[in-house]
Amino acid sequence: MHTVPGIKVLYFGTPVVLITTRNEDGSPNIAPMSSAWWLNGNAVLGLGDSSQTAANIAREGECVLNLPSSDMVGYVDRVAMTTGRRDMPEYKSEMGYRFVPDKFGLAGLTEQAAELVSPPRILECPIQMECRLTAAHPVGGEGGLTAFEVEVLRTHVEERLVIPGTHYIDPEAWDPLIMKFCEFFGGGRPVHASRLAAGWEMPHRLGTSALDEDGPEELEDAEPVLSGSASA
Ligand SMILES: Cc1cc2nc3c(=O)[nH]c(=O)nc-3n(C[C@H](O)[C@H](O)[C@H](O)COP(=O)(O)O)c2cc1C
Repeated sequence: MHTVPGIKVLYFGTPVVLITTRNEDGSPNIAPMSSAWWLNGNAVLGLGDSSQTAANIAREGECVLNLPSSDMVGYVDRVAMTTGRRDMPEYKSEMGYRFVPDKFGLAGLTEQAAELVSPPRILECPIQMECRLTAAHPVGGEGGLTAFEVEVLRTHVEERLVIPGTHYIDPEAWDPLIMKFCEFFGGGRPVHASRLAAGWEMPHRLGTSALDEDGPEELEDAEPVLSGSASA
């Protein structure tokens, strides 16, 4: 039997993307996002207009989509609830967002030059897609959201993920970090307490079940786990 509970959040589980873009002053920015999907050699990215990333993509027409594996969750959580935009909107400061001009430094991630676009790749991410903006569409009637259509110009993949002698990624070797209802999952299991879920005041409190032992302190103390062999 189905029910109609008036579901408020429709984040059923999608891969986390760390988008890198260039700010106006040339410095790099990182934003975690997960409203992304791919069709052939294109991707569509759903972004809030008030983010620094949306402004950067619209202005520069370029980005890199870096896919973290689930064991990189510590890095991702560190940059959650931050923005590269100095004059952030009031709703974000009320939610607890902080302005962070150097997210590579905050996360402990490493810049790696891209080959076809200006924003850097993230060395530690096993999959990196260099992209060029092709179109932008408003989403929803109320404004505030944009779907950016980008063309994937070049995809870099850690060698260990590629099925030898083919052009395919081994689906068993690739364990994406999944955002489900603001919580982090890998291999179908919760993997880390989530600042995003805390910011959204999600009612499920995953930190009290599977992630119990470390309690809320885990949000402050969690050390990122470096993926085995980040390669160039
Ligand atoms: C796991 C995760 C997924 C997110 N997904 C999205 C998303 O799909 N779209 C979006 O606009 N913001 C998303 N956010 C929020 C952005 O990261 C947030 O707006 C951030 O301030 C953007 O950074 P920027 O202002 O430096 O671009 C997500 C955050 C996290 C932690």
